[in-house]
Amino acid sequence: MKLAVIPGDGIGSEVIDSALRVLRRTSRVIDSGISWDVFDWGAERWLTDGVGLPDGAPHLLRANYDAVLLGALGDPRIPDMAHGREILLGLRQGLDLCVNYRPVVLPGGTVHLYRENTQGLYAGVGGAIRRGGIAEVAIDECVYTRETVERFLRYSLSDLQRRGSRRVTLVHKSNAVPNTGSLWQDVFRRELREFPDLAGNEQYVDAFCYHLVRNPTQFDGVVTSNLFGDVVSDIGAALMGGLGLAASASISPDTGFALFEPVHGSAPDIAGLGIANPYAVLMCVVLLLRHCGFDIPADALEQSLSDAVRTEVTTPDLGGIGTTDQFTGEVLRQLDLKL
Ligand code: NAI
Ligand code: MG
Repeated sequence: MKLAVIPGDGIGSEVIDSALRVLRRTSRVIDSGISWDVFDWGAERWLTDGVGLPDGAPHLLRANYDAVLLGALGDPRIPDMAHGREILLGLRQGLDLCVNYRPVVLPGGTVHLYRENTQGLYAGVGGAIRRGGIAEVAIDECVYTRETVERFLRYSLSDLQRRGSRRVTLVHKSNAVPNTGSLWQDVFRRELREFPDLAGNEQYVDAFCYHLVRNPTQFDGVVTSNLFGDVVSDIGAALMGGLGLAASASISPDTGFALFEPVHGSAPDIAGLGIANPYAVLMCVVLLLRHCGFDIPADALEQSLSDAVRTEVTTPDLGGIGTTDQFTGEVLRQLDLKL
């Protein structure tokens, strides 16, 4: 297995160091081994030679690697995040990563959240005139194509079926946003017919947020559009115990090519202190191993993470006294007992 690794900015490279230590260990139990190349795309490169995502990068990645592991992007010296948008949106669109999967792992079960990742309000359609004056007009259009909604839902529903899920909720707002809303409802209802084991229901996003906070594990699978998914998955991260725990996978339904990244950003407030929580990135490694068919090391790592998180060497965001390095060491110790 060959990975493209993009550490990125701030704590991105700190948590990626931790991921690479764990990958080196898991590589020993995989016949073909795991190797990787590291790409320096991020703030430093942008500031020195103006390059965000080099031309042809998506093609280079898809042609030579099995998956991408990304740390985080974001740097106070680039306040508009221009480099981050170019790299993240460029990879999502260039690699057709329209399915974003974020597991919300809770004591009572896991909520499987799927967010459409390329269109909707993030399609980049819109504009503004008369900037700054009282006559200013600003428009961002919500754009969905039936093709993308279909490919997204078909992949997400079959992924849920593979996980043994029994229920799936479409989160929408078709009362207030009727055009894209009814497109989503129509495709959802049609696609569900192909998955007789999945019971579908539909919920308005506001009501969904209310119920998610009050009783999260009443939900099993959740499918939603780009903006709703962005917001709802941060609630999911908070329910889990913080951004330091939340992992995500972005997948192309056609090729299966995937990019794994923690949900958190580059955390400039703690960058360089050595206390970033590597749990989220290590959970990404779990998702990555499973995606590539290596279930045994994936299960062992997932169990090691849940054992390590019960010790006192968790990082300060979880109330512990550990550093990134110490927590990673504990995960490796647990992993040695299991592999
Ligand atoms: P952030 O996720 O970087 O940090 C939010 C808060 O959570 C901070 O107090 C931070 O210390 C804490 N935190 C986050 N991850 C942590 C971890 N692994 N361990 C311990 N504490 C952790 O979000 P923020 O501050 O809004 O953004 C910082 C930069 O990151 C910005 O430039 C932003 O644009 C970028 N960003 C990038 C993302 C990405 O690469 N996908 C996602 C979110 C933000
Ligand atoms: Mg977000």
